[in-house]
Formats: sequence, C-alpha cells, structure tokens
Amino acid sequence: MLADKDRIFTNLYGFQPWNLKAAQARGDWDKTKDLMKRGQDAIIEEVKASGLRGRGGAGFPTGLKWSFMPKEPREDRPSFLVINADESEPGSCKDREIIRHDPHKLIEGALIAGYAMRARAAYIYIRGEFIREAETLFAAVQEAYDAGLLGKNAAKSGYDFDVFVHRGAGAYICGEETAMIESLEGKKGQPRLKPPFPAGAGLYGCPTTVNNVESIAVVPTILRRGAAWFASFGRENNKGTKLFQISGHVERPCVVEEEMGISFRELIEKHCGGIRGGWDNLLAVIPGGSSVPLVPAAEIMDAPMDFDGLKALGSGLGTAAAIVMDKSTDVVQAISRISYFYKHESCGQCTPCREGTGWMWRVMERLRTGDATIDEIDTLFDVTKQVEGHTICALGDAAAWPIQGLIRHFRPELERRIRENGGMMEAAE
Ligand SMILES: Cc1cc2nc3c(=O)[nH]c(=O)nc-3n(C[C@H](O)[C@H](O)[C@H](O)COP(=O)(O)O)c2cc1C
Ligand code: SF4
Repeated sequence: MLADKDRIFTNLYGFQPWNLKAAQARGDWDKTKDLMKRGQDAIIEEVKASGLRGRGGAGFPTGLKWSFMPKEPREDRPSFLVINADESEPGSCKDREIIRHDPHKLIEGALIAGYAMRARAAYIYIRGEFIREAETLFAAVQEAYDAGLLGKNAAKSGYDFDVFVHRGAGAYICGEETAMIESLEGKKGQPRLKPPFPAGAGLYGCPTTVNNVESIAVVPTILRRGAAWFASFGRENNKGTKLFQISGHVERPCVVEEEMGISFRELIEKHCGGIRGGWDNLLAVIPGGSSVPLVPAAEIMDAPMDFDGLKALGSGLGTAAAIVMDKSTDVVQAISRISYFYKHESCGQCTPCREGTGWMWRVMERLRTGDATIDEIDTLFDVTKQVEGHTICALGDAAAWPIQGLIRHFRPELERRIRENGGMMEAAE
C-alpha cells in the first residue's frame, strides 16, 4: 500500500483549505522558479524518465507528447497547452477532486508544463456541470495572478504565461481533444479528422498539446522528488502513483491515490472495506470507466490495476474508474444503459457511430427483455466490429467495447433470456 509520505495529492479529501496559503504550506509553489531554471528540454526529459503516461484514458507517454511541440514557436503562431477537465466518462470522478481541493497543484503544473513545451498560455476546459469546482478554479487562478505566480514574469522566472479557465456546456464529446479545441474556438464540439495532430495544428491552428488534469497536476511533484522516485512505483511501462475511483457495490466507494499495478483485491480490501456481500458475491467489474469492456469476477480479482495488466484481460485501465457490480446487478441492463449513453452523446458526424450507436442500443434493449433471436447476438457482435476503428474519434470504439465484453463473457445469460422469453434459435425467414 502506498505510504502517506509518497502521496502526491495530500489534500484529496479537502481536510485542509484549497487556497494558496494552505497549498504553499503543503509544498506547492515552492521555488517553482528553480524548477523552471533547469531548462525546458531538461524538464521534458525528466517527465519522460518518470514514465508518466497520460491519465485521461489513452495512456500516451506525457513527456514524449510534449516533445512533439515546436522548439522555437513563431511570433505569429504561439503554442498552447489545453488542460482537459471535462471528466464526463461515467465512473470517472478524480479530476474534480483535484480541482475542488488541490487546484494549485494543477495551476503550478500548468505553468511548468506550459513552459517546458514553450506554450504562451494554458486553457483549462472544465465541464459545465462542475459549478463549484469552476468557482474554486477561477478563484485559485486569480490568487496565483495576485501573487505574481502567473502573468508577466510568472513566479519570477522571466517567462510570461497566462492561464484561462473556460467552462463547457456539458457534452461528453467535448472531452475528446480535438472536439475540445473546436469548442474552445467557439464552434460546435465535434472531433476533427487527424492528421493534422494538435501539436502541428491545434487551437486556432497553432501548435497545441492537450493533457488531462491529473497528468499535469503530478508534474511539479515529479520534478521536486525526481523521476526515479515516481518510477519506483508500479511495473515497467506502468509507472507511478494513480488516482483510482471505485464506485458501485463496495462497502465504501472512494477516490484514492495508490501505486499503479496494485491488485484489484488489495485496492478493494484496503480502501473500500471489501465487496458488498463478500468476494463470492462479485459478478464483474468495469475497470476503467464505462468505455472499457467488463471483466468477470474470477479474472479481475487478482489482476494488477495498470495499463498492461488490464489490457491482458481484454479490457483497459482507461481513467482507472472501477465500476464494481455484485450479483444483484442486471448486467445486460447495465450495458444497455451504457449503450444509451453513447447513442445520446454521439456527435453525429460519422455514419457508423451516428447510426450504429442507436442500432446497438435498440438491440441491447431487446436482449435485455429477451425479445430477440439467438443469432442476433452474433449480428450485434459483427456490428460492433464494423463501428470499432471506423470512426473519426474513439467514441465509436467506446460504444462498441462494452457490448463486446458483455457478449464475450455473458453470452449464456443473453441466451437464457431469449429462451425464457420463448425466443427462436434463428431469425424468422
Ligand atoms: C469521447 C471521448 C471523451 C473523452 N473525454 C475525456 C475527458 O473527459 N477527460 C480527459 O482527460 N480525456 C478525455 N478523452 C481523451 C482525450 O481525447 C485526450 O486523449 C486526453 O485528454 C489526453 O490527455 P493525457 O495524454 O494527459 O491523457 C476523451 C476521448 C474521447 C474519444
Ligand atoms: S465517432 Fe461518433 S462522436 Fe466521434 S466524431 Fe464520429 S460521430 Fe462524432
């Protein structure tokens, strides 16, 4: 179990105030100027060496991403950092905790990351529904300006850097990085076709890096304590500490910082008081937010909670938001509800996603009630394969994967419902 002395987010639960004075007492903004003095490339190298991978879901190496930004931005084409605080993935609830209780970690991280990638400013795009969090963030940014930590000669580093907070209007798709950029530009939040990638042409056509809140907020501590310290947690290729979010049928749902690669069992036993009704009552877990396939109880129990460990089980770490389902769960209904979410949130640009998400949901609803034929299970699986990988953004994959996981692991349950409903083996001629 991660020792308290190794926690990055020491005010995750808000036991202390979030404000600048309290944040400074916790060690934030301590000689930020000296960290920046190490130089832009040295910071990028340190982040690379730490093994930090993006905490927004895809797990792309953070330092490497920064290295794609131009080393000498043009006067008329400044570089930007966009911080993704949209957090609309069902099950995910960590970025809001950082912003609510530890916003200065994020703001200091924005300055350091922005400086390292030679950005002129950072835009923090915060989900519209996060009203109180946005209030805190606005106030914390203002505190940083008032203390000379942002703006001209930020933190007396000689570097000019601004941070803008932008509130979204509550669309899941605006969490996708290019949809977020469109939305920031005042347009409808629809993903762009890539390439060009944001580092080449992003916000206002300028070089841009989009990073998750947690990815940025851990950077100052990584620099203070060293890449080797961060990399001492977790397994090869899966380094560091991580905010896990556990919801559903555990005794005490929570958000907790732990070492990457902790086993699911230890995570639940140490921090959540166990599974409701005991381990024999566990049915399945969606380990990384609603977009990843579920994993049945027997496979997840002793699995390491990291990128590679969950990939090996045909699922993913995603945002590390584990949705725990005990045997009282109607798993078909649960996945059907998730399908409805993706149908609702599809931006409608590409046909496989726009039509496919509605089609998949409607079949899921019939499978839920048993009003289907058994061969439709295969047809549904085929359709998920036609959606997966054939769309502009990953929302199509996110809609397909939970259904694939259900069919892979709970096919007998789907067939049972059809049979009990008097369903046929084959579709009628
Ligand atoms: C439909 C969709 C929704 C997304 N929502 C979020 C989100 O709410 N927060 C987030 O950080 N990343 C989200 N992402 C991932 C972002 O596109 C992007 O990969 C991420 O912000 C990069 O940050 P990182 O490298 O620090 O992980 C979403 C992706 C998709 C396809
Ligand atoms: S996959 Fe869906 S959400 Fe993404 S761009 Fe296409 S239609 Fe829009």
